[in-house]
Amino acid sequence: MPAKELYRSLDPHFSQTLVDIVAAELNKNVNICDHKGVIIASFSKERISQVHECAANMLASGHIHEFSVTEDDVARYKGVRKGFNVPIIFEGRCAGVIGVTGEPEAAAPYARLAARFVQAALESSARQEKLVRALQEKEELQTIFLNKIIAVQEEERRKISRELHDETSQALTSIIVGLRVLSEQMGGGEERARVLAMRDLAAKTLEDVHRLAVELRPVLLDDLGLVAAAHKYIESYANQYSLPVDIDFAGLSRERFRPEVEIALYRILQEALTNIVKHARAGQVRVALKKSRGRLRLTVADDGVGFEIASLQTAAAGACLGIHGMRERVALLDGAFAIQTAPGAGTAITAEVPLKEKNHGR
Ligand SMILES: Nc1ncnc2c1ncn2[C@@H]1O[C@H](COP(=O)(O)OP(=O)(O)OP(=O)(O)O)[C@@H](O)[C@H]1O
Ligand SMILES: [Mg+2]
Repeated sequence: MPAKELYRSLDPHFSQTLVDIVAAELNKNVNICDHKGVIIASFSKERISQVHECAANMLASGHIHEFSVTEDDVARYKGVRKGFNVPIIFEGRCAGVIGVTGEPEAAAPYARLAARFVQAALESSARQEKLVRALQEKEELQTIFLNKIIAVQEEERRKISRELHDETSQALTSIIVGLRVLSEQMGGGEERARVLAMRDLAAKTLEDVHRLAVELRPVLLDDLGLVAAAHKYIESYANQYSLPVDIDFAGLSRERFRPEVEIALYRILQEALTNIVKHARAGQVRVALKKSRGRLRLTVADDGVGFEIASLQTAAAGACLGIHGMRERVALLDGAFAIQTAPGAGTAITAEVPLKEKNHGR
């Protein structure tokens, strides 16, 4: 086994602790060489970083084995003492050599025991590393899936929204116009009233379709950006629910941000405003959007009933998808998400995301 193939280095702190323990127990000199034969831990500290000649020779020969350092070796090599040396084998390779000074036969069991101890420690740290790596890979995969799901969902919504906007709305508009023309040709009477009622129904349906299309994916978001789309959404929300909404967009007018940021914050705004109607019984809402130090921060606050934040942790699986969804969207953009609330004290959610994409170094 040539020395250059050796790969796993021993932790010097760990090695030194082990050396101290064994040396104190034996009252002997103990040292550990790394896979190149360099002493990385020694009871006599001044010898650290000297090459342990005997171990270095053994490693260089490529023949890894236990060995005694004899009187002859002491005379031949500089800086070595009589003792017993045991290679530390890990995953079939030599990670280093541990040496205990003294009469070789007496030192041998201690050196072997210490080597086994180091091997066990290496194995356990390798196992831990493997687990951590597996966990990281799983988390990365989850992030990729989540990104993909959100992208597919957004694309699907965009398609349906365009279809509703371009096809269904056009057809309904033709029907409305047709019914109006028909009603004009009919003169008075009950039949005309029925046609007009049908026209009103079609007009109402057109409004609903329009609202649905906007809810799914506002054309404005793609065309004019977050600020314009948020303004429009809030305006129609305030009208629909007769809820005053104070808007503070701090001088952001036509500024555009990267699409992921715009979509994420728009969806968070939608969910937060929906939650207010569903749960808050609020009298006043405030929406703020602020850019500062390369980050964009959205705050949606209400003066409603608030809630116990701990209830989110105890909620059943599959519940609280709205808040989880907001949190996930922000996390995917490496941002920060916070909820401030208490029973009777209103609720404020804050989502802050970096404007520039983080370089993942991949
Ligand atoms: N603005 C708010 N005011 C009062 N309570 C709120 C507010 N926002 C959220 N909550 C509370 O937090 C819970 C979790 O909200 P979340 O949006 O995650 O779920 P949800 O709205 O109940 O259901 P959905 O999954 O459809 O969004 C709500 O059930 C409600 O009790
Ligand atoms: Mg919700």
